[in-house]
Amino acid sequence: MNQKNSSERLPQNTLTDAEAQNLKFWDEVAPVHFKSYEIEPLRQGRSVIDSIQRKELYPVAGKSLLHLQCHIGTDTLSLALDGARVTGVDFSTESLKLAEQLRDELGLEARFVHANVYDLPEKLTGEYDIVYSTKGVLCWLKDLDTWARIVAKYLKSGGTFYLMDTHPLLPIFDDRRVDELRVAHTCYHEKDAIIWDDDLPDYADSQYIPKNHTCEWQWTLSDIINAITGAGLTVEFLNEHPRLYYAGFPGMVMDEEGWFDFPGKYAGMLPQTFSLKARKP
Ligand SMILES: C[S@@+](CC[C@H](N)C(=O)[O-])C[C@H]1O[C@@H](n2cnc3c(N)ncnc32)[C@H](O)[C@@H]1O
Repeated sequence: MNQKNSSERLPQNTLTDAEAQNLKFWDEVAPVHFKSYEIEPLRQGRSVIDSIQRKELYPVAGKSLLHLQCHIGTDTLSLALDGARVTGVDFSTESLKLAEQLRDELGLEARFVHANVYDLPEKLTGEYDIVYSTKGVLCWLKDLDTWARIVAKYLKSGGTFYLMDTHPLLPIFDDRRVDELRVAHTCYHEKDAIIWDDDLPDYADSQYIPKNHTCEWQWTLSDIINAITGAGLTVEFLNEHPRLYYAGFPGMVMDEEGWFDFPGKYAGMLPQTFSLKARKP
């Protein structure tokens, strides 16, 4: 596939009602996350990138890295602490304000670009050694084929795309109980977003109930792989991990590295996070 031509054909994006609603949600929770995310280690000069990413992606020192959906920048700034030259992208103004505040407080080099991922080609030029997007990213995306072409556009030839996210199997279960898992949602993608409007606490702060609902899309592993290979990237590995990076179900237990799993009979039985590395030929 000719990458140059494919990126020229990227469709014009307009913020849909679903994305506008998600933007309200992310602007609302950004200051909540600034209090509940792991900021202290960063203040002490320690990166918060997890053990799996260190094994699968590192070293990043000296590499140019584009972080898509960077939120309040804790991972972006960790990657900077570990030596990468980082650019973070997010569409939430409130998130990026906090990311820039933290960058300045820590005295790190990092550039933050305010953009909907789908509008990025209008705002940012250049090619990177690594395009990186992790932990809670795909469910906000309405169109994976266009997203994957944008990822490919920003990679140098030989560059690496690294993706880690919730395993698509997990959101099919009723997230109010862990004693008996019950299938409550389809595993398959539907064009209309699923509206998540409940009174459950925020994933990072059990004391905070978000006011704004969210609109999310479900993608299967085949949707993800087909989008990435369809954009001309070569998948090097796909790994499925029996642990989650947040307490997605009530009663989940945390291990000494900060990963979560179901208690009792489901412990270790389900893939909960996947990671994928792809290369641009
Ligand atoms: C779970 S967070 C990102 C994950 C990151 N690991 C973290 O927790 O800090 C999801 C981020 O995606 C951003 N986001 C959602 N949809 C987006 C879009 N269409 N374009 C750009 N950013 C988007 C949100 O603003 C939010 O900051």
